[in-house]
Amino acid sequence: MGKNILITGGAGFIGSHLIKLFVQKYPNYQIYNLDALTYAGNLESLKDIESADNYHFIHGDITDLDFIGQCFKKHAISDVIHLAAESHVDRSISDPLIFIKTNVLGTASLLQAARDNWGSQPGHLFYHVSTDEVYGSLGEKGFFYEDTAYDPRSPYSASKASSDHFVRAFHHTYGLPVVLSNCSNNYGPHQFPEKLIPLFINNILEKKSLPVYGKGVNVRDWLYVVDHARAIDNIFHKGSVGETYNIGGHNEWRNIDLIKLLCKLMDQKLGRSPGTSEKLITYVKDRAGHDMRYAIDASKIKKELGWEPSLQFEEGLSLTIDWYLENKDWLENVTSGSYRDYYEKMYEGKLT
Ligand code: NAD
Ligand code: TYD
Repeated sequence: MGKNILITGGAGFIGSHLIKLFVQKYPNYQIYNLDALTYAGNLESLKDIESADNYHFIHGDITDLDFIGQCFKKHAISDVIHLAAESHVDRSISDPLIFIKTNVLGTASLLQAARDNWGSQPGHLFYHVSTDEVYGSLGEKGFFYEDTAYDPRSPYSASKASSDHFVRAFHHTYGLPVVLSNCSNNYGPHQFPEKLIPLFINNILEKKSLPVYGKGVNVRDWLYVVDHARAIDNIFHKGSVGETYNIGGHNEWRNIDLIKLLCKLMDQKLGRSPGTSEKLITYVKDRAGHDMRYAIDASKIKKELGWEPSLQFEEGLSLTIDWYLENKDWLENVTSGSYRDYYEKMYEGKLT
């Protein structure tokens, strides 16, 4: 059956992979990519599919309710997959208000537009893409389950938690058909080089310091971005309305171990002698309120929908490094201008 799907944040990291998957796999769907093109949005990431007949770009802001309402009407939007967000924890620490505006007000505006336009008609779905960070921070043992109590600790995770609550509230109060997923840390091509993996790939390339927060012992659970897009596809088509699905790869790494693996692979690929990149590691002041460990239990999505990650971590990391090495222009484009100013201000005087 044909659908007119509004995907928000499609010029960002995960959104661009999801758009490529949907545009190519579902020629009978019309895909509308709504994105404000903030520093994190880059249409270059969508070059492969930009001329496809079923792909359409809409430049706009999810906090603008009138505009969103017009989009719903003009394109007879049948479904929403909502990814647009401010997504970087460090930025949320230095500037929390924009996270509240985009992530909370933006999500609430989309929900309101969906409610206004869909009423109680059947055949619609509002899919909200969220993060495991809403569950808080784990100690050495245990996992996040779908029913783990929310305990967000950074302005980013607090804003995502709030948006999740609004999505569920619109379901319970107004009967809006919703589904949610909470995913662990993603990595892969097209990720903006402020997040750990692409930042460090970029710095190794440029022989700049690798700023490890605190002692580097915090743990993250990494998933290749294409596997996340596959999981969203599964949930969108087979998930049950009102349900939440955790997505993760059972792939926990202490930051410092991951960074050393990255240094080793980069030395091999760049033809540098072993140990060269590790010398760039610089321990810096810890992130304020730094969550210690994230780890997802993804057995529900595996059992109910048959989804599993397809790639081993070393394989995915190697593919990711290769992509950045082959796309230095992309890196240069996104790191010039305001991002470079932000980055240089953040580490002023501390880094080479
Ligand atoms: P990203 O920062 O790479 O992209 C966000 C996109 O949203 C950008 O294209 C940006 O231009 C757009 N955007 C921002 N504000 C907007 C606004 N007001 N109106 C319209 N568009 C706007 O983010 P990402 O890493 O691709 O994350 C996508 C979603 O997935 C987010 O909701 C995030 O919370 C969630 N998530 C991310 C991860 C991860 O590891 N990156 C993990 C789990 C969940
Ligand atoms: P990040 O990629 O920002 O994702 P998140 O904070 O959402 O998990 O960071 C991943 C981990 O790497 C996190 O524990 C913080 C750490 N980190 C550093 O040590 N140095 C850095 O420069 C960055 C960006 C992150």
